[in-house]
Amino acid sequence: MSDAARQAILEPLIREEDLHQGIKELVDRIATDFEGDELHVIGLLRGSFMFTADLVRLLYRHSIPLVVDFMTVSSYGGGIESSGTVNMIRDIDINLSGQQVLLVDDILDTGRTLDFASRRLAESYPASLKTCVFLDKPSRRVVPFEADYVGFTVPDLFVVGYGLDYDGRYRELPHLSVVTSEDG
Ligand code: IMP
Ligand code: MG
Repeated sequence: MSDAARQAILEPLIREEDLHQGIKELVDRIATDFEGDELHVIGLLRGSFMFTADLVRLLYRHSIPLVVDFMTVSSYGGGIESSGTVNMIRDIDINLSGQQVLLVDDILDTGRTLDFASRRLAESYPASLKTCVFLDKPSRRVVPFEADYVGFTVPDLFVVGYGLDYDGRYRELPHLSVVTSEDG
């Protein structure tokens, strides 16, 4: 962990209650679109662990049958800037052929991660492939990519909490904060 991450100054951006309300509304839409279908939910680790956990519990309440798996890809070296290349660290274990798939990530930033991950999943010939992100930062896009389901759109700020980290820290925050200073 870097000294910068340890000493970062955080300012709240989305309160826990507002975050849960937004996600509930998002899941209502997903549940309506997939009513009667089994859905294969693929979360991207590590950033989407909290969002995916809340998402699947809410989908359960809508009686949507699920298969849940995770995939680990990496694009970030650890700090605030992306390295630009995406690597597969751990692939999924399940077969997606002919299935309805929902790919879930924490944030859509440059678009490289979701572009890479969705191309990889498309190779398995799912019946449908949709993407869902907790956050969208459209101003940062490098690869043209739009998610089918977006929880919140945020400006070009580095955010942490609810699964998102700064150098491994702050993933546990139940709300979303902005890193306003790296050197305290
Ligand atoms: P992309 O490939 O640039 O779209 O970035 C996606 C990944 O970058 C996300 O899964 C996050 O792990 C990370 N990321 C992008 N923006 C932020 C941020 O503001 N805070 C924390 N992580 C971020
Ligand atoms: Mg991530």
